[in-house]
Amino acid sequence: MKSRGTKKGDEPLSKRPHLEPSLPTDPALYSGPFPFYRLPSQLGCFSLDEQRQYHGDARALRYYSPPPTSSQGPNFDLRDGYPDRYQPRDETVQEKLDHLLHWLMEHRGQLEGPSNFSLRGPGWLAGATVTWRGHLTKLLTTPYERQEGWQLAASRFQGTLYLSEVETPAARAQRLSRPPHLRELMYMGYKFEQYMCADKPGGSPDPSGEVNTNVAFCSVLRSRLGNHPLLFSGEVDCTDSKAPSPEPPTCYVELKTSKEMHSLGQKRSFYRYKLLKWWAQSFLPGVPNVVAGFRNPEGFISSLKTFPTMKMFEYVRNDREGWNPSVCMNFCAAFLTFAHNTVVQDDPRLVYLFSWEPGGPVTVSEHRDAPYAFLPTWYVDAMSQ
Ligand code: A3P
Ligand code: MG
Ligand code: MG
Repeated sequence: MKSRGTKKGDEPLSKRPHLEPSLPTDPALYSGPFPFYRLPSQLGCFSLDEQRQYHGDARALRYYSPPPTSSQGPNFDLRDGYPDRYQPRDETVQEKLDHLLHWLMEHRGQLEGPSNFSLRGPGWLAGATVTWRGHLTKLLTTPYERQEGWQLAASRFQGTLYLSEVETPAARAQRLSRPPHLRELMYMGYKFEQYMCADKPGGSPDPSGEVNTNVAFCSVLRSRLGNHPLLFSGEVDCTDSKAPSPEPPTCYVELKTSKEMHSLGQKRSFYRYKLLKWWAQSFLPGVPNVVAGFRNPEGFISSLKTFPTMKMFEYVRNDREGWNPSVCMNFCAAFLTFAHNTVVQDDPRLVYLFSWEPGGPVTVSEHRDAPYAFLPTWYVDAMSQ
């Protein structure tokens, strides 16, 4: 046999320094054609009440009720009721996947039924990735994100890959030191929802009540990215009874607030950064429209504009500094493949922590039990029955 030299890269594998697996996030690596993404379909829903208690129904769903179009614009005062009529959710409680697991536990029979009944087939859940829509949104925007890193904990259980976000030390520090004006700004986003939604179909909004951010309506959806079946849940702001396509998720409307824009520079930056996040959040669950309220420096909404999710990319298509939906989706697919190849052992107590900071690749570390294990025993036990 021909003897081998000691040229770099020619050493036997055992003598090479051990390379930790990692995943690069450079947009240029993911610019191929748009991958397959199955039309999302709703499998079910649940609600969280004023006390953040779970209910397996749509009681928290609200109804889109925009103001009558007038020449003056809406003039909603987003600061009204702050802080006296504000019940913010306790952000020190880390809920992880718990509410979604509750829904899964209650529907486990339907998810693994015979294929002619469930239309998913036996073993569908075992091959799926289960997570929150918000976690997938962060994955989609990663190639373009320059400010905030993330950590995702992953465990495999009965075949299914579960992904649950872990608050980074930086995010925790920011939350604990959030300045008063940012607290008020958060309130204003929820206050806008109150001005735009009624509790009953055909009803009118009641801005005199409290803003309680414990309350949430969540849709549970099924989709597939490339060869990765997905089951994820996301909070939905409201449903439009007059939507051209009245079934969920196409009847859903996402509400957003943003600063009034005057200069071209302000618009450019809105299309580059904010619209990317809006697109990722609504594209994943198939929510067709985002209704934006633009607020003036005094905190009043002065105008409304509907952004169809599927048209958002048009605003950056010819912008060199813009974003590309294919890059977002290809990166997400690559991450799912990377995670599936990393999390091989089926063990709800074993956790792989995927960490990412802007400018670097996604790295992985391995952990067992506390503090990273996130699949609760009540869930593991119920699913093992
Ligand atoms: P806006 O983003 O409309 O201002 P969502 O739009 O996802 O339904 O969220 C509703 C509101 O929650 C947001 O309103 C904002 O006020 C607050 N919010 C959501 N995500 C946030 C985040 N990462 N940081 C701060 N506030 C957030
Ligand atoms: Mg919302
Ligand atoms: Mg919203």
